[in-house]
Amino acid sequence: MSKLDQVVKDIVAEMQERSDRGEVATYIPELAGVDPKAFGLAVIDADGQLACGGDCDTSFSIQSISKVFTLTFALGMIGDRLWRRVGREPSGSPFNSIVQLERERGIPRNPFINAGAIVVTDLILSGHQPREALGEILRFLQFLADDSSITIDAAVAASENRTGFRNRALANYMKSFSVLENPVDFTLGVYFHHCAIAMSCRQLAMAGRFLAHHGRNPSTGLLVVQPERARRINAIMLTCGHYDGSGEFAYRVGLPGKSGVGGGILAIAPGRASIAVWSPGLDAAGNSHLGRLALEELTKRMGWSIFGGN
Ligand code: DON
Repeated sequence: MSKLDQVVKDIVAEMQERSDRGEVATYIPELAGVDPKAFGLAVIDADGQLACGGDCDTSFSIQSISKVFTLTFALGMIGDRLWRRVGREPSGSPFNSIVQLERERGIPRNPFINAGAIVVTDLILSGHQPREALGEILRFLQFLADDSSITIDAAVAASENRTGFRNRALANYMKSFSVLENPVDFTLGVYFHHCAIAMSCRQLAMAGRFLAHHGRNPSTGLLVVQPERARRINAIMLTCGHYDGSGEFAYRVGLPGKSGVGGGILAIAPGRASIAVWSPGLDAAGNSHLGRLALEELTKRMGWSIFGGN
């Protein structure tokens, strides 16, 4: 057994034992019923070797992790013009905060807070029907993960569509500054559906590989994005990927990472591995509690923090 296999096996066993699991998100009613005891971890190294354990093949709602892929896709469509509509500074605020938007005249701080991700979705939607835009996003994820079985959980999307009053407020507010081009309901429809994409840790770790290897899928050799773009997306993940928990995540884990309220985290160890973890219970900032602890242990034991040491 390789060192990585052993470390993953140990961490999964330790996390499954723990009783502190955080709180499962309930503001999207369909997510409230997820088993808080679920735990999965998948790590794919540069050679394509997979180390995984626990519920690493169970699909979960990737939620905000989808924002990494919509950002990548939108940058591919319109390039750096994207940054005219959304900033790239950490917000220091919760993911669904409204106050900052007023001070900054409807321009969201970064593409990972909800307001920023809604702008990115709106960019992808322009010139398309909502169904087409959504199909493009889903196919992009299927391509990255090399898995055409990845789908959208329609019940989760419908659940958020019914209850997403806060996102409606954010979107309408931005619309009042003409920051959104498309009808609010169209943009939000696409946004709720891409957040409702369901994937397993294994599929997610596969999809993140290009970020760990200078924009290239090391198994196929195919370039997904230029190395410079991969580096920059990683930088935004490090500084903004966990909202007002981003500093703590960098301090403890030391990797670019993106969380979702479904309890997943995608983390990138540049040059080394793409990592996905899932534990549905969240901390106060809305990030997976055990997911972060597991990643902290992984980077310590493997010496993978981008800041060196262990
Ligand atoms: O818009 C929302 O609130 C959700 N669809 C996504 C939020 C999310 O995942 C925040 N991440 N931790």
